[in-house]
Amino acid sequence: MRLVDYNEKLRLFTLSNNSFGYAIYLNDAGYLETVYFGRAMRDYSDFACVREAGEYASPRYNIRTAREEGYRDGFKADAAPLEVSPHGTWDKRGAPIILRGARGGFETDFRYESHRIYAGLPVEEGMPHAHGAGAETLELTLRERTYNVLLRLNLSVFSDKNILIKNFALENAGGAAVKIVRAMSMQLDLPSADYDLVHFCGRWAKERDWCENPVHDGVQEVSSNLGRSSAEENPFVILKARGADETQGEAIGLNLIYSGNFKFRAFVGAYRGLHITYGMNDEDFEWTLAPGERFAAPQAVVAYSAEGLGGMSAAMHRFVRENLVTYGGSRADRPILFNSWEGCYFSFDTARILTYIDESVRIGTQLFVLDDGWFGARDDDTRGLGDWRVNLKKIDLHKVMAHCKEMGIRFGIWFEPEMVNFDSDLFRAHPEYALGMNAGRQELSLMRHQLHLDFACAAAVENIYAQMKAFLSEYPVDYIKWDYNRTVAEHLSGSLPPERQGEVYHRLVLGYYTLLGRLTAEFPHTMFEGCSSGGGRFDLGTLYYCPQIWCSDESDPAQRMDIQFNTSYGYPLSAIGSHVNDSKVAPYRTKAALALFGTYGYEMNPELLTEEEVHTLAAAAELYQKYHLSVIEEGTLYRLCAPHSGNYMCMQCVSQDRSASLVIFMNKLKEGDRFRFIRLRGLDGEKRYRNDFDGQTHTGEYYMRVGLNFSREWLGEFDCRLVLLTEEVL
Ligand code: DGJ
Repeated sequence: MRLVDYNEKLRLFTLSNNSFGYAIYLNDAGYLETVYFGRAMRDYSDFACVREAGEYASPRYNIRTAREEGYRDGFKADAAPLEVSPHGTWDKRGAPIILRGARGGFETDFRYESHRIYAGLPVEEGMPHAHGAGAETLELTLRERTYNVLLRLNLSVFSDKNILIKNFALENAGGAAVKIVRAMSMQLDLPSADYDLVHFCGRWAKERDWCENPVHDGVQEVSSNLGRSSAEENPFVILKARGADETQGEAIGLNLIYSGNFKFRAFVGAYRGLHITYGMNDEDFEWTLAPGERFAAPQAVVAYSAEGLGGMSAAMHRFVRENLVTYGGSRADRPILFNSWEGCYFSFDTARILTYIDESVRIGTQLFVLDDGWFGARDDDTRGLGDWRVNLKKIDLHKVMAHCKEMGIRFGIWFEPEMVNFDSDLFRAHPEYALGMNAGRQELSLMRHQLHLDFACAAAVENIYAQMKAFLSEYPVDYIKWDYNRTVAEHLSGSLPPERQGEVYHRLVLGYYTLLGRLTAEFPHTMFEGCSSGGGRFDLGTLYYCPQIWCSDESDPAQRMDIQFNTSYGYPLSAIGSHVNDSKVAPYRTKAALALFGTYGYEMNPELLTEEEVHTLAAAAELYQKYHLSVIEEGTLYRLCAPHSGNYMCMQCVSQDRSASLVIFMNKLKEGDRFRFIRLRGLDGEKRYRNDFDGQTHTGEYYMRVGLNFSREWLGEFDCRLVLLTEEVL
């Protein structure tokens, strides 16, 4: 069967691979009815329209013929599951796209005109997007009846992944400008509402908490209007069929390749079906589309699994690794990183950094990162942002970089390109580059003493680009940590006319992508890591440019285990920046074990480590070097005990060839549980594996049926065991 097909006789489009199928019926009215989304089927022809021809389901008055008419296939306009609900008609469930034309009305009615099927994925200039081989796309062209705006609706499917990509572009083919007042990337109508909605809310240092609620009548919303994808709500959401769990049942994961405001909206109405719209948040959004112009919505990613949350996550993980991250070194190149921040914050000089480098090499550091404080007049967080010149009085970067080279390690540095302190040369020279300046305000909200740069203003973006390029030309660093430490408060741009103020939020994100896109393209060997006060911009848009994102400013395992565990539902471990710090709650072996289940690194004063601690960390670093790529980065993750539902956290990764596996088992409270057998997963039942926990060798079948007995040892609070299983080759 073809990946994408159209049966003209049945007026049926199908997208299907071995895992799932999606079927769309093109009805008599020219609307696209979503008739199936579920497990793959051998044959979809039964989804041809089954309604009575001539049934008067949604009668209408034809103004031209002055007669009452119905659709021949009995289309029920307010209840049929659709790809794109119209607006300003019977259907009040919530349209994904709303236009406003010259007459000021809100009517929006797209009808099918043509389609094409092509190999590959749609690419939108200046926007992060999915790529890679093995995909096919169905592009449906619809035309808005009043405004003559074309809708190019894309649905893409991969041959080897249970992933569906949805997005659209609008093209104004009419003679007058229209306003786009809503542009949600996708609608998904499901026949049943028997799902639980899982989303990941939180705040600074407590990102991505597990929130699970039954889908109920009326509206449920998961959204951000903070200008970034946010710590408060992550754009990744899950629809979990009732009764589904980690290993079985239907789970649908949804995410957006976007870093700004988003809105997931679920609506259950009178007819009980579940109506979802998902995309950019429409709050204060308004975009003018002049004749001949085009507007593209971010791509939405839908992962389907009939094998529970684990299957859904595995699909998302492979998608991110193989079809999203563009950084060339994404396969292997995840060096062990030492970041200066928590060790010395703003107070350092060249001598101190050189000492840090020497000390950090003892614990396996491969990349030394100088965090905030190296530029302008930045000795605390009140000044300097925007002045990206090395503070030569404070640090001799050439010397530091030369020393890293001598020690055989790489060097990286911190930037916060989208921000400015009012106490900075940049602000003094160009106050108009700050967001909200010259827009009629009396005052602007500060966060961490900083203002947001107006990245809707091309000159502001250009200024930062020129500064960063000059820096990178003089100091060819191997890595940049790209931070973003405030949200958008006043979404007003002095650089846009009054009628375009509804474009500010989206233009800020486009400015971010322009700058990041240019720099990553021009410096392909520099690895960029995303960050936003920890994990406040942990999203697929950022991952397109940055293979990893600093997961949270909270490194203490007590909280961190939840943060990392929950992040893994939507994102691969290879994306999760995780460091060992010197918080005192847990021992170093726990902190190291947890950090190994991500991209391993350190943040601490290395001079304070005891010899024993150095030994523990150096051993963890050795393990990372040996097993990170095959087991953690490219292996399959199994979540064995969820910390949000009990006292333990347990995760396991298995290499693709099933020759090695790492298991982390962690306690919250001390508990005298005498039968704490944890059954492993994903091993080869017939192979024999030695484990370094009790030194025993068993078959894969034994580990998967009986398990590892973690109760043989008494674990203290927030203590943990890291177990390596290796295939015994006779
Ligand atoms: C917030 C980040 O999350 C930290 O890791 C650190 O880089 C600081 N900003 C520096 O200001």
